Amino acid sequence: MIKISWGDLTPEKFLQEYWQKKPLLIKQAVPGFTGTIEADELAGLAMEQEIESRIISHDGNEQWQVHHGPFEDFSQFGEQNWTLLVQAVNNWSRETNQLLSLVNFIPRWRVDDVMVSFSTPEGGVGAHLDQYDVFILQGEGRRRWQVGAPDASLKTLLPHPDLKQVSPFDPLIDEITEPGDLLYIPPNHPHNGVSVENSLNFSIGFQAPSNQDLWSGFADILIDKNLGEARFTDPNRTACVDSSQLTEKDTKALHAFMLSQFNDTAMFNEFIGKYLTQNHHALELLIPMEAFEQAYVVEILDNEDIHLAPVSGIKALIIDEPSPCLYINGDAFTLCEETKPLAKLLASSDPLTTKTLKSFTDCLKNTQLLTNVLNKGYWFIEE
Ligand code: SIN
Ligand code: CO
Repeated sequence: MIKISWGDLTPEKFLQEYWQKKPLLIKQAVPGFTGTIEADELAGLAMEQEIESRIISHDGNEQWQVHHGPFEDFSQFGEQNWTLLVQAVNNWSRETNQLLSLVNFIPRWRVDDVMVSFSTPEGGVGAHLDQYDVFILQGEGRRRWQVGAPDASLKTLLPHPDLKQVSPFDPLIDEITEPGDLLYIPPNHPHNGVSVENSLNFSIGFQAPSNQDLWSGFADILIDKNLGEARFTDPNRTACVDSSQLTEKDTKALHAFMLSQFNDTAMFNEFIGKYLTQNHHALELLIPMEAFEQAYVVEILDNEDIHLAPVSGIKALIIDEPSPCLYINGDAFTLCEETKPLAKLLASSDPLTTKTLKSFTDCLKNTQLLTNVLNKGYWFIEE
């Protein structure tokens, strides 16, 4: 498991002083790091239909172009002034997914994906803002990174319909990053990375749900479960003074009526568990051609030459209240005292040996849980 070499900082101090507040560059945060994927493998991913990729290029004279993947050939882009960005590489590369352990001091539900970029000399996406926190780990090569403070006077620029940039800003950080350096950029801080030479950047991007997404997600659950059909009632109404008025009493009653379901902890927790474990990018789900029987799962656990692994990048979390539940990829698996220890292992992203798993199968409920996650394709059998 790789960890950040914090130097004088600790995760606690980082959260207090920098998280969502100030950018930070940690030199040699991961000594010896050069990358988890080679540039040509990245180019291979950018050729795949289901993987989101872009190439952003410029002519050195502020003329910018955006090309969307999948790509068949990269030769037209030449030797410089462009960058290839591939989203959610951690869903396809387990080594890249392991980079998430760098930010284990922040819960997994806050993390979105690991985006990887390959940039040629002078390549970059230009000065811009992002709405999310990001940790950018420098792999191979060097890049000049400038990061500034939020500044309402910055102008939004649209040098291409698919490319939002901002006007030049005063940098708080202006450094050349080298392999193993880690840059933290809070939301809405202008930044610009310009490659010095061919270089790879690994961006651990965070997710922060918007209020409107949460409300509409909650409404979707009510509709799916047909739970939103109850009507407002007012059996204790008294004659009103002015029929054109919506009284404070009625407003409060309507407000309480709407909130009654929102305040139902079981319903809210089921919604939020499902919502937060949904992946925003394609995953390599491995659904078996024919559903496994529980007896078959017990049988394969005798084989010590295989192990069970989660699909790379899959999101899982456990919510204990009001009754324990494991959420994986937007699905809920109800737990009990006997299945909680196994669920804890299934919620981590580490492969499990058959020997470890075998110890759980004395309990039928554990075998059932394991069979369910295998049949959903969230975990798979690996030779
Ligand atoms: C990158 O070019 O690797 C990161 C782009 C960004 O700053 O969002
Ligand atoms: Co950015």
